[in-house]
Amino acid sequence: MNAKSDVPRPMKKYYLSTFGCQMNVHDSEKMAGILKAEGLLEASGPDDADIIIFNTCSIRQKAEQKFYSELGRLKALKKIKPDLKIAVSGCIAQQEGKKMLKRTPYVDYIMGPQNIHLLKNIFKSKPARVSVEDNPLMADMEFPVDRRDNLKAWVNIMYGCNNFCSYCIVPYTRGREKSRAKDSIINEIKVLAESGCKEVTLLGQNVNSYESSVDFPSLLKEINSISEIKRIRFMTSHPKDLTEDLIYAIRDLDKVCEHIHLPLQSGSTKVLGLMNRKYSYADYLRGVDRLREEIPKIAITSDIIAGFPQETEEDHECTIKALKDIQFDGLFAFMYSARPGTRAATIDGHIPENIQSERLAEILELQNDITNLKNKELEETVQEILIEKEYPENTDNLIGRTRTNKIIPIPWNSNISPGDIVKVKITKANLHSLDAEVIPLEKGY
Ligand code: SAH
Ligand code: SF4
Ligand code: F3S
Repeated sequence: MNAKSDVPRPMKKYYLSTFGCQMNVHDSEKMAGILKAEGLLEASGPDDADIIIFNTCSIRQKAEQKFYSELGRLKALKKIKPDLKIAVSGCIAQQEGKKMLKRTPYVDYIMGPQNIHLLKNIFKSKPARVSVEDNPLMADMEFPVDRRDNLKAWVNIMYGCNNFCSYCIVPYTRGREKSRAKDSIINEIKVLAESGCKEVTLLGQNVNSYESSVDFPSLLKEINSISEIKRIRFMTSHPKDLTEDLIYAIRDLDKVCEHIHLPLQSGSTKVLGLMNRKYSYADYLRGVDRLREEIPKIAITSDIIAGFPQETEEDHECTIKALKDIQFDGLFAFMYSARPGTRAATIDGHIPENIQSERLAEILELQNDITNLKNKELEETVQEILIEKEYPENTDNLIGRTRTNKIIPIPWNSNISPGDIVKVKITKANLHSLDAEVIPLEKGY
């Protein structure tokens, strides 16, 4: 017998480093699924891996810099371990393509978000070094998914974006909008439901422009009828596609949670025009009013860009006034960052960074006060929360989320486990979470 062949070959290991939005987080779950199906194990860190994959984000310059500095550190590791494979996926991979090989020649594979299926067999099939082609079959592909959490699952309903907001790189990195077939979405969710999933978050750059054999509100209705699924969330919604039917769906479908992330970007209609957002501030406000008329308890969160080119002090004041008038439940605000290849990068009137940063600070400070006030309004109210594990895992604490997506830390308690839906009374509001007491079953139900 050949002694050599008796020695089991050690299993290969992968390490995944993820940057960016939920879309990337979920793509990483798919990449992990593909690699695990190939028999690879998850490495404990980059030093321990046979392949390192960076799933990258290019939404702002800072995100890009962060990736290149992490990648740079691997150059030395690759010298010590010449067999180590380095793959770059995600939005920087798509945007840079083979240019990245010039800057960082030690990268083995570059694959855009529409080509992650090429990870299958990567050690045997040796795909092309650079794969950034448009993949028209993307929306029909089925992937094994290694989910971090089975209770709450991300489900892609569409890929890409057609909107070309003038500042945004996403239409260049994710390609044109493609909606997934309804049946394949419903099948995925039914399988999830059978394996214990309680909450799904439908993902897309503009979920509310979903269009397949049914539209988005009808898709929500079908998902609402899957009995084991208790909660349905979705993101991101574009204000231009906020239809009455969607508002009614949120109002009437019992599992659709009362929360919408509806990025405003600016309170100035002039700036919204420069951004190519396709709505005025008045249109946006009408949408918010309609949402609150039909669903009084709805939480609305948003995104703002501070210091867009040609934004005057008056335009900035319009944004400040908008925040005061609308009173968002939460806000992500960012300094405008010029992205090469986008329209806004070529227009005049870029704002100096110190002014951008002052405007951003004013926005964030104001919003903190508003978030605090909004959370205070919840004190003494009773809320329904879904119990989840805390990440990184903490055995002393669980967390719960209200239907409006507010976080409530719950001390570990033998009567409660992840997946339970319990009622709580809010005792104290904090900026980023709410303290609450669990209402014992006999009182709560
Ligand atoms: N598809 C979603 C959001 C995608 S990106 C939508 O349409 O709203 C998430 C957020 O990043 C955007 O809402 C925007 O506020 C911000 N963003 C995008 N490009 C940016 C840029 N070049 N500079 C600063 N912020 C940007
Ligand atoms: Fe970017 Fe606009 Fe598309 Fe959102 S809708 S991904 S901001 S281009
Ligand atoms: Fe970033 Fe791409 Fe998402 S640029 S925000 S990872 S779509």
